[in-house]
Order: sequence, then C-alpha cells, then structure tokens
Amino acid sequence: MSIPISRVTVVGAGYMGGGIAQSLALAGFTVQIADVDVAASLKGLERLLTEVQEFEAEGLYPPGSTEVVKKNLTAGKTIEEAVADADFIEEAVFEVPEVKHAVLRTISEFARPDAIIGTNTSTIPVHELVPAVTGPERFLTVHFSNPAPFIPGVELVAGEATKPEVIAAVKDLLARAGRQGAQVADTPGMVLNRLQYVLLKEATAIVEEGVATVEDVDTIVRTTFGFRLGFFGPFAIADQAGLDVYANCFTTFENAYGPRLATPKLLTDAVADGRKGTKNGKGLTGEFDEETRAALIAYRNKAYSRMGDLLRELGPAPKGA
Ligand SMILES: NC(=O)c1ccc[n+]([C@@H]2O[C@H](COP(=O)([O-])OP(=O)(O)OC[C@H]3O[C@@H](n4cnc5c(N)ncnc54)[C@H](O)[C@@H]3O)[C@@H](O)[C@H]2O)c1
Repeated sequence: MSIPISRVTVVGAGYMGGGIAQSLALAGFTVQIADVDVAASLKGLERLLTEVQEFEAEGLYPPGSTEVVKKNLTAGKTIEEAVADADFIEEAVFEVPEVKHAVLRTISEFARPDAIIGTNTSTIPVHELVPAVTGPERFLTVHFSNPAPFIPGVELVAGEATKPEVIAAVKDLLARAGRQGAQVADTPGMVLNRLQYVLLKEATAIVEEGVATVEDVDTIVRTTFGFRLGFFGPFAIADQAGLDVYANCFTTFENAYGPRLATPKLLTDAVADGRKGTKNGKGLTGEFDEETRAALIAYRNKAYSRMGDLLRELGPAPKGA
C-alpha cells in the first residue's frame, strides 16, 4: 500500500467533495478534483479558489492559504485520468447507490491497484458499496461532516476485507489535515447521523405534540445540552451529571413514554455496580481520582465560560423571515 498518502483525487466536486478537496489541499496534499465532465470540475475549482480567498480575508483560514490551495488544488482531467496517479481517491458524488456504484467501478478500473478508495457516503453501509470496487481490501467509508473545511470529525467504516494498514494510512492523512478519525461499525447512518436524526425525530414529535415551538426547541438545545456538546459526548455528560441521577430520570421517562425510553441496561448495570460517575470516581468514561475530577471540572467551567464569550461575540445566527 502507498503509505503515507500524498496525492489525493476527490471525485464529485460538489458541496462536500469541494470542501474535502480544499481542506486537504490546504493541509499540503496534492489534490485533484473531478466531476461529471471537465467543465464541471473546472467550475468547482473556480468556486473553491474564490471561497478560499474569502475564508482567508475573513480570517477563517490562516494568511497564505489562498496561495497554498492554488498551488495544491487542480482540475481539468476526466475521472479516468484524475484517479490514475492518486494514492487516495475519495468519492463524494450523489447519495444514490446506483450513481455511487457506477463511479466506484470507474475509479477501481482506472486507479492504481494499490490506491486507497474512500466513500463519503452519509448513510449507505459500506458492504452495499463493496461489490462495485475491485480490490475491496483498499476500500472504506471516510465520512467527512458538513461544512468540511471547518468540522474536524470524520467517521471511518471498514468493510469486511479492508486491510488495517489502509485504515491506518487514512487516519494518518486525517491527522495531518488536523482531523479526528473515529472508526465505527458498518451500519446504516453510522453514529453521527443515527444520533442526529433521532434528535430531530424527537424534536419533531415535541413540536407536533404542541410541547414547544420549532424556535423554542432550537433555543433550548443551543443554550443547554447543545452548549456542552463541543466539549463532551453523552457518556461524559452522564458521568458528570451522575449515573444514579440519570437512572432515576429514565424511570420517569419510561413511565411516561414506555419501553422506548426505559433505563438502558448499560446504565442499570453501572449503577448496580456502584458506578455513579465522576462524583464517586467511577464513570462510564473511566475512573476519576480527586485530582482528575478537579481538573475536569476546571476544564468544563473554562470551556463553558469561553463558549459564552464566543456566542456573545458572534451574536445570534441570522434567521429566515
Ligand atoms: N451535504 C451534506 O451535508 C453531507 C454531509 C456529509 C456527507 N455527505 C455526502 O457527500 C456526498 C456528496 O454530497 P454533496 O452534499 O456534496 O452533494 P452535491 O450534490 O453538492 O455534490 C455531488 C457532486 O457529485 C457530482 N456527480 C454526480 N454524479 C457524478 C458522476 N457520475 N461522476 C462524477 N461526479 C458526479 C455532481 O455533479 C456534484 O457536483 C453524498 O454521498 C452525501 O451523502 C453530504
């Protein structure tokens, strides 16, 4: 396998493919973009070069970014030509299995046999795309999040045949691009979208039941638990709140909403095992002595205080009419 990756081709120069290509070019990789035809690729390149100038002017990208991206990002070849010399090819075309199959077949045919192939699919299980790839040991999901230039997390999903060194090479690429890759199992929606869509589904039910308006739901999410999510995931938050407290709250939910919201076994077992979270040093995310607990609380307070400063500085997000 070609490790480490230096030449990248992104197929699909739309919203996500463009953002991925731009981010990797900025990180120093040599990147080509290819879309349905050369004209579409060149149009994508033009848009990305305008955008990088704007990002630099607004201080969102460091000084000199435009020059770096101009030097490293190119377009103007067919998909067949653009993938021929790449170490890593990321597919970012429409989320339509037939379209992805056709594009992955072309990539497989024209890429080097040792090139790694990733797909940016949001929801399609990797095993449903594997049949389109020649050499499934070099194929995996590499799911960037929107907007790709600014969101650091990337979900990775290996297929049954994906070689560990392929995953390692992609993790290395992501780390060099300042991203955090997390590998998850091959299920529809993976982790990010499964959680995000469940939140939206419950939020929708809340609005439909007349519990709160769309605006008030968004306000509550932003200003309460959403405020924490940039720093802590749900397990870390539960540890800080108290696992015993959470278990009791689930009882109320189960009584009101039935088994759908019953106390999860993981939580019941933890509490039965005497694990109450950071307050008694035994959490779902680890063991905490006095020193670690104090450091965590100090970090949390600083993080939330700074988050408050940032939100005051930015002011409210622009709204639709
Ligand atoms: N938009 C998001 O928020 C988001 C987030 C994460 C992942 N994704 C995933 O990223 C992928 C791309 O989504 P997007 O939002 O960038 O879509 P998009 O519509 O902006 O871009 C898709 C691009 O693919 C190109 N394309 C279509 N068929 C092609 C073909 N046969 N050959 C070459 N190029 C072709 C289109 O011309 C277009 O430029 C999808 O799999 C999507 O699920 C999207």
